Amino acid sequence: MSDFKAFDFRTRFGTKHFPSPIFTASGCAGYGRELSQFFDLGELGAVVTKSIAVKPRSGRPTPRMAETPSGMLNSIGLQGPGIDDFLEHDIPWLRESGARTIVSISGESIEEYASLARRLRSVTGLSGIEVNISCPNVENRGLVFACDPIASRSVVEAVRRNIGGELPIIVKLSPDVTDIVAIAREVVDAGADGLALINTVLGMVIDIDARRPKLAGITGGLSGPAIRPIAVRAIYQVHSALPNIPILGMGGVASGRDALELVFAGASGISIGTATFGNPTAAIVVKTELENLLKERGFTSFTEAIGAAHER
Ligand SMILES: Cc1cc2nc3c(=O)[nH]c(=O)nc-3n(C[C@H](O)[C@H](O)[C@H](O)COP(=O)(O)O)c2cc1C
Repeated sequence: MSDFKAFDFRTRFGTKHFPSPIFTASGCAGYGRELSQFFDLGELGAVVTKSIAVKPRSGRPTPRMAETPSGMLNSIGLQGPGIDDFLEHDIPWLRESGARTIVSISGESIEEYASLARRLRSVTGLSGIEVNISCPNVENRGLVFACDPIASRSVVEAVRRNIGGELPIIVKLSPDVTDIVAIAREVVDAGADGLALINTVLGMVIDIDARRPKLAGITGGLSGPAIRPIAVRAIYQVHSALPNIPILGMGGVASGRDALELVFAGASGISIGTATFGNPTAAIVVKTELENLLKERGFTSFTEAIGAAHER
């Protein structure tokens, strides 16, 4: 008799089931075209697109990338083509490629988020919306939505009202807050089906010869292995407080072991970001390694492992 047992790698966010728990991280794989040269995008849980805004944007001035120990700092800003171009060119391509798609949206006011949700409402075949709230709110002195519980709640309420139907809303939180659980509670209360943890961590590098900040934008978002312990902490805290809310975990995942750490902390899915820049097949490497690690540990399904580091 064969000892072969099919491993159940499926996961779920809101009403949607995904055959794999490995996703791309917003902003690290464009709209999927580049990665599709390296592997079948259907291997992923979903492609999470770069955050899309109402209008085309050219991003922040250069230089906007800096290497740091075990990570990188970027101040790209929300560069992109805008929703019209995205709907005309990228959505049809993604549909044809066979990729499941989660569209990340970003806005500078509640009305911009509402308007993006209205535009996406009629798009068929999407697997979810990721709401990036790490953006400055022009109506409130540029205070980042994700750092303000009331503004975070208002964004999610506006998206929920305008998206209609049952499309899962995953809200992406910033780790740059005193109490991430308080923000998580607000957005879940407002209608979020899942949370994405974590966005980049605000950082800064100074060129000691030039005596100036290295990035033209002065500060930037830190990503890569340097932030993994922060991601593990945030996921663990939020899963403890809200054990029934699925978390898409990210932050410095480059191997199956890294992914497993986030899963044991409470993640129901893993997004691969910075690792993709060094190795375009990183998501597939992580997927294969994670499956083997789970099987070695006697798991027969991915969902059994979610939150395994918590006392039960
Ligand atoms: C170059 C770059 C661009 C990014 N763009 C976005 C974006 O458009 N929207 C967003 O929500 N997060 C964006 N992120 C954050 C990532 O999706 C992810 O949350 C973060 O980098 C942590 O994961 P990692 O360490 O695996 O990269 C970006 C990150 C990088 C490095």
